[in-house]
Amino acid sequence: MRLEQVADTATQDVVRQMLEDEGLVSCDLDDDGIDLLVLRDGITVVACGGLENFGECALLRSLVVRREWRGRGIAVMLLAALEDAARQRGARTAYLLTSGAERYFQRQGYASVARASVPAAIAASRQFSSLCPASAACMRKDLAPQT
Ligand SMILES: CC(C)(COP(=O)(O)OP(=O)(O)OC[C@H]1O[C@@H](n2cnc3c(N)ncnc32)[C@H](O)[C@@H]1OP(=O)(O)O)[C@@H](O)C(=O)NCCC(=O)NCCS
Repeated sequence: MRLEQVADTATQDVVRQMLEDEGLVSCDLDDDGIDLLVLRDGITVVACGGLENFGECALLRSLVVRREWRGRGIAVMLLAALEDAARQRGARTAYLLTSGAERYFQRQGYASVARASVPAAIAASRQFSSLCPASAACMRKDLAPQT
């Protein structure tokens, strides 16, 4: 399995389709400041995830594992890679919004928080301010520095 940063339109289109198939937001993928990572098995993209960095905080988003690859720890692996990338860009706290995977993220160390409590930069992101449903759970995790 190979981790790659998405740098070409063809892969971005694959990610867009994966998000749409899961009913997740895809219309802002072209926006500046969104880093997309994919895990490939050979040429097949088996999982994707995204990251928007805002100084000391980061928004994790767009995490999808193809159905036939689920239940093997792939999302855990990709989430760790996204958190690492966020740390490297200076983030100390990760935020995300989710409509169906709140329990999943709880198991990965995320805790639900009120939307009103998020930093202004996160609140102003398109995912928060307009694209994700108001009913989506908002979650946060401290990104402890790795030793
Ligand atoms: C959520 C998701 C990314 C997990 O991917 P995955 O690679 O199967 O996850 P892992 O293998 O790391 O973990 C599997 C475990 O999580 C559990 N799990 C998977 N999806 C879950 C969910 N939505 N809610 C609660 N638990 C979930 C599985 O039951 C399994 O539990 P087990 O270890 O006790 O058997 C994948 O199910 C997915 O792509 N879902 C659709 C898109 C989505 O909701 N993305 C998150 C919002 S951005």
